[in-house]
Amino acid sequence: MKIFIDSADIGEIREAAAMGVVDGVTTNPSLVAKTGRPLAKVIADICEIIDGPISAEVIATDTDGIVSEGKKLAAIHKNVVVKVPLIADGIKAVKILTAQGIKTNVTLCFSAPQALLTAKAGATYVSPFIGRIDDTGGDGLELIDSITTIYRNYASLKTEVLCASIRHPVHLVRCAEMGAHVATIPHKVILQFLEDAKKIPS
Ligand code: E4P
Repeated sequence: MKIFIDSADIGEIREAAAMGVVDGVTTNPSLVAKTGRPLAKVIADICEIIDGPISAEVIATDTDGIVSEGKKLAAIHKNVVVKVPLIADGIKAVKILTAQGIKTNVTLCFSAPQALLTAKAGATYVSPFIGRIDDTGGDGLELIDSITTIYRNYASLKTEVLCASIRHPVHLVRCAEMGAHVATIPHKVILQFLEDAKKIPS
């Protein structure tokens, strides 16, 4: 399973990279806003630290806007993956960006049919939001089970399941058990995994 860090904080990303366990990075507009720096600069800096897929999210919500912003983001570095909202215009944009060889991460996935459409459009990744589903009384892990099963049933669906909105270690373990391709995890949750080691008596 690939592990991405869900952060735009250069210090956190450097620290996680030093552990040698990080394969990529996901960012979102609120994480980037916390840095107080322009998106393009933040993404360029992250690309210097981690040699793997780096998701940068568009703000536009119409197909033309998403495609045009997506092309600009993809031009920053060859590792940039354009993060697109899971709406009808976003799915159309994925089709266009994919045809131009640009990788996409379709975000804010809350159902299996949405994940199926995302894969049909040719997205590189789909991001189901486990924690946010749990927050509203649903079962985020049940969704991961459903999507991984559907994708496994059809070899033509090449999209990778990128488990997002991970809040605690059990989320990660269950996603790995179900064979999800990637988990994106906040730095504080990565550190939480290592807290267990402190409980081992010496
Ligand atoms: C992933 O790409 C998202 O940025 C992230 O996992 C969202 O997590 P949250 O629900 O904790 O904001």
